[in-house]
Amino acid sequence: MGCSFSGLNALYDAVNGGGDVWINDNRFRIVRQLGEGGFAYVFLVKEVLTDSTSSGGGGVAKKFKDPSHVSGLIPPPLLHVKSDMLYDGTYAMKKVLIQNTEQLELVREEIRVSSLFSHPNLLPLLDHAIIAVKGSPEQSWKHEAYLLFPVHLDGTLLDNAKVMKAKKEFFSTSDVLQIFRQLCAGLKHMHSLEPPYAHNDVKPGNVLLTHRKGQPPLAILMDFGSARSARKQIRSRSEALQLQEWAAEHCSAPFRAPELWDCPSHSDIDERTDIWSLGCTLFAIM
Ligand SMILES: Nc1ncnc2c1ncn2[C@@H]1O[C@H](COP(=O)(O)OP(=O)(O)O)[C@@H](O)[C@H]1O
Ligand SMILES: [Mg+2]
Repeated sequence: MGCSFSGLNALYDAVNGGGDVWINDNRFRIVRQLGEGGFAYVFLVKEVLTDSTSSGGGGVAKKFKDPSHVSGLIPPPLLHVKSDMLYDGTYAMKKVLIQNTEQLELVREEIRVSSLFSHPNLLPLLDHAIIAVKGSPEQSWKHEAYLLFPVHLDGTLLDNAKVMKAKKEFFSTSDVLQIFRQLCAGLKHMHSLEPPYAHNDVKPGNVLLTHRKGQPPLAILMDFGSARSARKQIRSRSEALQLQEWAAEHCSAPFRAPELWDCPSHSDIDERTDIWSLGCTLFAIM
């Protein structure tokens, strides 16, 4: 749970129409919406540097060990933070609306799992806060989670593929292979943890693409809302049905592995479910 500064969000909502958001002791101004999911909205935000955060060079950026996580990919105007680190203070902020304890647990799990990874092809979680909110006196307390990520403004692999399809264009074979290789590298990192983790929702809509001059596009796997420990021993019909039910909610149907559609009552499920989804993703961009 974030510290008390994040609790100011409700107050700011009331005062200025929801313009600013606090994530712990850093303040962000919402620029525009980037996307939305089931119970989540993703916004482009820009950090508002206050006297205390700007002294010593850049509020939230000071927290990160790896400067590549900060939006150095975006053209000027840039702000010099340290000689080896450039950033313009923009981020992606995912706001998740939480209605019940089950959703609260899911977001906590997304935060916990995201913090396990550190790989150039997996989107890092930079900071987070969960705050309690109360709409009206009759309403019970609800929660909102704010998750802060580096922003990638060239859209998802799905967005890019759609635009290209409309123009009757295709990714070059070399770009397809480079994107595929990067997704393999990101997944290998997740699958090599102890215990191995499965992403469970690998699809073009969960890959951020960044175009780079003279280099193949950068592909970053994101959205760890369905990720969990990959290995499950299924030993009864009811366990198999429970897994199918979970998969129906968390793994997008066109990319879902066959063993998650029709799970045998005695089976060992593992990270190969992601390999199926990866194959479907490859097919989708060819
Ligand atoms: N770091 C980011 N940079 C740019 N756009 C993003 C970023 N993260 C998410 N988005 C946009 O927001 C959408 C939803 O984000 P996602 O984390 O996949 O949410 P959900 O869990 O609801 O699917 C994405 O499809 C993408 O368009
Ligand atoms: Mg998603």
